[in-house]
Amino acid sequence: MTEMETPPLTPPKRVFIKTYGCQMNVYDSDRMADALAPHGYMPTQDVAEADLVLLNTCHIREKASEKVFSELGRLKELQGERRALGGDMMIGVAGCVAQAEGEEIARRAPVVDLVFGPQAYHRLPDMLARAEGQRHMHPSLKKPVIDTDFPEEDKFAHLPAAKKEVILARGLTAFLTVQEGCDKFCSFCVVPYTRGAEVSRPVSQVLDEARRLVDAGVKEITLLGQNVNAYHGRDAAGRSVGLGELAYLLAEIAGLERLRYTTSHPRDMDEALIAAHRDLPLLMPYLHLPVQSGSDRILKAMNRKHTSAEYLTLIERIKQARPDMALSGDFIVGFPGETDQDFEDTLTIIRETGYASAYSFKYSTRPGTPGANLANQVAEEVKTERLHRLQELVNAQTTAFHASCVGKTLPVLIERVGRMPGQVGGRSPYLQAVHLDGPNELIGAIHEVEIIGTSTNSLVGRLKQAVAA
Ligand code: 5AD
Ligand code: SF4
Repeated sequence: MTEMETPPLTPPKRVFIKTYGCQMNVYDSDRMADALAPHGYMPTQDVAEADLVLLNTCHIREKASEKVFSELGRLKELQGERRALGGDMMIGVAGCVAQAEGEEIARRAPVVDLVFGPQAYHRLPDMLARAEGQRHMHPSLKKPVIDTDFPEEDKFAHLPAAKKEVILARGLTAFLTVQEGCDKFCSFCVVPYTRGAEVSRPVSQVLDEARRLVDAGVKEITLLGQNVNAYHGRDAAGRSVGLGELAYLLAEIAGLERLRYTTSHPRDMDEALIAAHRDLPLLMPYLHLPVQSGSDRILKAMNRKHTSAEYLTLIERIKQARPDMALSGDFIVGFPGETDQDFEDTLTIIRETGYASAYSFKYSTRPGTPGANLANQVAEEVKTERLHRLQELVNAQTTAFHASCVGKTLPVLIERVGRMPGQVGGRSPYLQAVHLDGPNELIGAIHEVEIIGTSTNSLVGRLKQAVAA
């Protein structure tokens, strides 16, 4: 386009952000959008009209990172189409794959303009300006802007807050990262390398962000951290505050109705946090507490630092504090050296715990982790077979858990219109989707709902209380 043809008003630029992996990446993608908004980039859901595409990537398992390279192939074609029409498309790779394989991405995928890790999001506008400066260079001179440093400064303090209407458009529930990184070094896991050492945000920063969310209309906050219950933020007096104490402080925010946190490590479920579950009705009775394996031998090799018996005792203590507590978990099958008996022990702990839901994965070798150097890798077909058996057991438990809700009355946060006209939908305390007949006016609040049935992945309910006119 020549200068003569340039329209008098610059239309907003469009950014398309694709998020892979965990909830923390969902939170981070929103922060990136917030950081770009003051620089004229508006979010779009349509990749074809994007001036900037950001892939917020996940490195936790091999498949997750491979997806990024195939997506880059597709984007290259789209970029070509846009250029043929006189436009352009910048491409950035963010997140944990960028952190772990920044140079490799730049080498394998020259289409990429920007590569930056999770600790650099607050520098995004600056990186973008530098990348834009390279846009018209000859391809042989162009180099992607790479930022995978772990900065000293507090990234969160430099990220702008979202506007009220943006928060509300994102929904009645929100994520809030309180802790990042991990010092546990489970032998299968890349997180301590991609997200770095454990860092907790100061208490006042967390409370301010929570108040802003609630002020904009958010009813439910999920606190996020790779090791969220290891949270130890400083308060104004410089004292270290744990997640249990933080929950009591958040419970004082008027208008905040539900609080959750994920992901927890069994070793960090301390007395204060269990007491918070006993005392705070807003703390939802649904806990994601991964155990990974039920075999003590494998738990040791995984460097999980607890036994299966300790896990079961912990569950008992938590259920004593909050009898309606339900659990979800993560499991890895086929960790190096896992025998049939080890796997049977995993099935046993699943039966003894009884999960409302669980995620399960085949062990995937991650470069740089201690697990990658272990002998006795388990054959792929054995992993497949074990995963299948484990998932059958867990699926049966999930179905049984849904069925056990029928006849109960549960508080449901009604969030949206339903699938059918005249229906609305929301979530139970256990994150189950619940559908019921009712007017749209129910949306935005928690209502008592009698569960009258189940369908494939959701519950069917009937409104208990009439809505006040
Ligand atoms: N292979 C398979 N699963 C893994 N997870 C983490 N690392 C690996 C790996 N190398 C699983 C764990 C963790 C979840 C987020 O992903 O179960 O809890
Ligand atoms: Fe990974 Fe273990 Fe840390 Fe969880 S606790 S992020 S599995 S190293």
